[in-house]
Amino acid sequence: MARRYTSDLTWDDVTPKELYLNRRQIMAGAGAMLGAGLIGGGARAQGDLEPNTFEEITTYNNFYEFGTGKDDPARNAHMMTTQPWSIVVDGMVDNPGTYSFEEIVAGMTIEERIYRFRCVEAWSMVIPWNGFELADLLARVGVQEGARYVAFETLVRPEEMPGVRVPVLDWPYREGLRLDEAMHPLTIMATGIYGEPMPNQNGAPIRLVVPWKYGFKSIKSIVRITLTDEEPYASWNAAQPREYGFYSNVNPNVNHPRWSQASERRIGGGLFARRIDTLMFNGYEDEVASLYEGMDLAEFF
Ligand code: MTE
Repeated sequence: MARRYTSDLTWDDVTPKELYLNRRQIMAGAGAMLGAGLIGGGARAQGDLEPNTFEEITTYNNFYEFGTGKDDPARNAHMMTTQPWSIVVDGMVDNPGTYSFEEIVAGMTIEERIYRFRCVEAWSMVIPWNGFELADLLARVGVQEGARYVAFETLVRPEEMPGVRVPVLDWPYREGLRLDEAMHPLTIMATGIYGEPMPNQNGAPIRLVVPWKYGFKSIKSIVRITLTDEEPYASWNAAQPREYGFYSNVNPNVNHPRWSQASERRIGGGLFARRIDTLMFNGYEDEVASLYEGMDLAEFF
């Protein structure tokens, strides 16, 4: 039975891709004419939740294993071999092992989830992902009592990833969630975009998507999932703990030390588009705020 948990965005909002691309082109033309009238003023309220185009989602990326430029992943990620692919599941689980990608996906209900995606760098998109709930996978591998966190690791293969020759981060890219965050129904393992298999530059064949957190928590091309009782190593947090907290929940009231997080630039908005207001928990406050009850969100940022 397919379930849906799309918050205020539904799959019905997505027009078939071809029509959609057309509409965007038409709108881009109209935007250019109206643009001059739209300059100035502060950020506007969010409201327009139109998904980004496949083109936008697959050509403006962060995947530092392929370079730090926004177009490096689109240019270089084809070098990554994604077949065969396996994921090691270990730590505090009943059924540890090395599972093939096919084994992982086999028992899962693939759903469509249209989520806002907010990068810590203050740009954003709306992305129609395909994937399954991480909770379903965790149920299958059997989380043992005492486990409190889930740790994730990305592939490192220097011969296929030119970016890992540069020590921007301590490779492999690693991330982690508290177990209740990992079990939340909004947290998915994504295997596609717009109904197509996950493009390499977006984290093929399988990546995490946690829509209420800054994008860097949504780790790509996962090869290891570990259940643990200790807060796991997280790459950006380890590199710059003052700038990137372990939680990194989207929060317009807690600025990055070097820039404001109050507003964001929606990719594809055009040259004259005004910034839009960033929403608490990226617009998923009703669903996730209870996870952080009693926590000081400025301290645990
Ligand atoms: N995962 C890995 N392995 N390497 C990365 O560099 N970048 C993160 C995240 N996951 C990154 C990663 C950041 S900063 C963002 S904003 C998102 O991926 C970007 O996802 P997208 O390119 O699909 O939009």
